[in-house]
Amino acid sequence: MREFATFEERLSAWTTDTMKSFFGVEDTNVPLGVAPTNNDKFGDYQCNAAMELSKVLKKAPRQIAQEFIDAAELPNFVEKIDIAGPGFINFTLSNIALAEHIQSLENDPHLGAEQVGRGKTVIIDYSSPNVAKPMHIGHIRSTVIGNAIDRLYRFLGYNVIADNHLGDWGTQFGLMIVGFRSFVDEAALAEAPIEELERVYVASYNKSKEDPTWRDKAKAELVKLQQGDAENRALWERFIKLSIEEFNTIYDRLGVKFDLYRGESFYNDRLPKIIQSLEEKGLATESDGALIVDLEDEGMPVCIVRKSDGGYNYATTDLATVEARLEEFSPERIVYVTDERQQLHFKQFFTIAEKLGLNANLVHVWFGLMRLPEATFSTREGNVIKLAALLDEAEARSLEMVRSSSPDMPAEQQKDLAKAIGIGAIKYTDLSQNPQSLVTFTWEKALNMEGNSAPYLQYAYARISSVYDKFHAQYPDTELNQYSIIIEHKIERRLAVKLSHFSAAVHGAAENHRPNIMADYLYDLAQIYSSFYQNVPFLKAEQGVRESRIRLCRSTAATLKQGLDLLGIETPERI
Ligand code: ARG
Repeated sequence: MREFATFEERLSAWTTDTMKSFFGVEDTNVPLGVAPTNNDKFGDYQCNAAMELSKVLKKAPRQIAQEFIDAAELPNFVEKIDIAGPGFINFTLSNIALAEHIQSLENDPHLGAEQVGRGKTVIIDYSSPNVAKPMHIGHIRSTVIGNAIDRLYRFLGYNVIADNHLGDWGTQFGLMIVGFRSFVDEAALAEAPIEELERVYVASYNKSKEDPTWRDKAKAELVKLQQGDAENRALWERFIKLSIEEFNTIYDRLGVKFDLYRGESFYNDRLPKIIQSLEEKGLATESDGALIVDLEDEGMPVCIVRKSDGGYNYATTDLATVEARLEEFSPERIVYVTDERQQLHFKQFFTIAEKLGLNANLVHVWFGLMRLPEATFSTREGNVIKLAALLDEAEARSLEMVRSSSPDMPAEQQKDLAKAIGIGAIKYTDLSQNPQSLVTFTWEKALNMEGNSAPYLQYAYARISSVYDKFHAQYPDTELNQYSIIIEHKIERRLAVKLSHFSAAVHGAAENHRPNIMADYLYDLAQIYSSFYQNVPFLKAEQGVRESRIRLCRSTAATLKQGLDLLGIETPERI
């Protein structure tokens, strides 16, 4: 068994081995392991194998469970085993084993999480906004959710490549180029580049509607760009550079880093070859001058891979991108994070990729668009919320909170704190919900100190740290590690069991691409800690018990800090 193995792993290995030999079912496919119980009145773990084995062994499940219990020699970390309901086998861990496990986790930088990703590469394609356009709410969510998935995978030892697949190619650049030459205001461009580029685009687009010669000019400039004309190329590169610079200011504020910024244009040279393979394999057919892939058998509409004017489509670029990524990185998996509106696109191109023999494990993680009730954002204009303004508002609201709760804190520190709380609140709102459910954003929920929010968890963390600091101030010479963790009280036990489940929360969140599994875990942990704190004395407890409880505090703080970090949320020491 690996070092720092969880109880679930150890117990599952034991039930599986023991049942196989005891019942003579070495080759069975029936899962014989355990899972955590939902309620500690049924012990800590349960095994449901008796129900399934009943068919194989032709015996009643309760009888199977009873026979197993009578014969089994319990592993030393199990205190009690009993049967519940139709034949569930329940296990209660021994308090001593539990205490030892929590102590041992202090020496594991991964807090018990198995490094399942070692030697494996995963590409995560997220954020991916479009050049010269402001990020919309879908890009914001993709950035925050994608980054949490990125952090979770890295924590499990995967070699993660965070790739920002910028939308940097397409017919709009013809209009951009002619528009830029006539309408750009360099001062405005220096001030707010993306805003100005967007204004230029809209002006040029509107003119093209009225003026056919303008449209033709735009088309001609596009063709020149596509053919590599130096001047147009330089302009286009400038649009990209300006856009990335502005996107980066947002990524910096969010603590998000990418390994690659490979836009769609990076794959241009591969597009004709993809079309050629589609044709050679008989997958693509002409239709009204366009080239399409029929997906009727798969129950999907046709996918256009080349337009009648010869231009390529979004799906074609994505196919070329998969091919390039496989060649260069041999990833175990490629994860794409976008809003729900792109589901069909991904289903289509995943299907075509498979038909093309691009053997890749492709996963589309989609999320619903968050609902923003009217008047939520003072900065909202039409349907576009300016992300920078949203973050400003979060920080400003948090600063007010900090000023009233800590009026004596130095102003600079108040500001840093407000930043951690405000950004954390925005992220946590995104991350704490099932990504696919409809979420309505409100400031009250996001900044609620008492509810399931980032500030609540950050505050819990700071409070735990302060208990620990108080202890050190009172007992400066005590070497905590010389005292063992002792688990006696029911609430101590509950806390320890929860701490031992951190690893399962990491795996669950990463494997299902659902950071909310981690958020739920942290919220539960904070609540259990809070009832621990309210129900037993800490500093006033007798020597030995006191140190043990402080050690549990320290483990809880470390777990909360790590868990929040996996969600990209900072944990200030003082609030
Ligand atoms: N640029 C696209 C958009 O804004 C998202 C790209 C997602 N990634 C991908 N490989 N298709 O809608």
